[in-house]
Amino acid sequence: MIGVFDSGCGGLSVLKEIVRLLPDEEYIYLADNAHCPYGEKSPEYITDRCREITRLLMSKGADIIVVACNTATAAAINTVRGEFDIKFIGMEPAVKPAALGTRTGVIGVLATAGTLKGSKYLASKGNYEDGCRIVEHVGEGFVELVEAGKLSGPETEATVKRSLTPLLDAGADTIVLGCTHYPFLLPTMQKIANVRFIDPAPAVARHLVYVMVQEGLLGERQATKALATVVASEEARALGQELPPVPRPKIELIATGDPSGLEALFETVFVG
Ligand code: DGL
Repeated sequence: MIGVFDSGCGGLSVLKEIVRLLPDEEYIYLADNAHCPYGEKSPEYITDRCREITRLLMSKGADIIVVACNTATAAAINTVRGEFDIKFIGMEPAVKPAALGTRTGVIGVLATAGTLKGSKYLASKGNYEDGCRIVEHVGEGFVELVEAGKLSGPETEATVKRSLTPLLDAGADTIVLGCTHYPFLLPTMQKIANVRFIDPAPAVARHLVYVMVQEGLLGERQATKALATVVASEEARALGQELPPVPRPKIELIATGDPSGLEALFETVFVG
């Protein structure tokens, strides 16, 4: 069983890409929305939450855990990897594809304050800063909008515009979505900015498949099917083709707070 968690419902953007590749697996998704947002909380606080969530997911039968949260990955993944006997897959800040693809030489990174302070992000930024300018901004209010299910409308547009404007003014032609909540605001962002947005979720889902194959967590037939699906979906993406809708997986949804926002967003992400 694959365990997936986030501070709230944002991790559903990652779950969707995972289920696209592994539709027959069983899942458990935990939204820690009683403690959301994680963005401004201390690494110690987030690490404690990650420990508690890991214990719960393991007790429910998870045999691999996806930390579908950039902030929790930055704050806690190294610590929990050392403490629990289970594989963790974390989020990767997608600075590399952005730096390789920019034409203006300016890339924007939208993320939480915690992610922007994380050593993983700082290291990958350091690797590409010589070749391009990296401009960062916290998506102020984005997480709250997504948790409230306000994915469009004048309030959402105004909030999104406030954080995108400094990146656009700096000349960014590519913007990295460094928080798993943000892809849910993509239609609104695309209304405001005609630039390329990069969501690392498909790459994280592919990495999960490779690790599960390597660790023997998929049967032989499942592994062959998953690897073929990876190739097919990457080809479709490269050709700019629309990807098929993702069917509802076998899943247990858990929220530490009010489950209604999670359940509502889940229904819009999966079909059937
Ligand atoms: N979705 C999360 C992330 O990727 C956390 C946002 C928050 O709770 O502040 O960083």
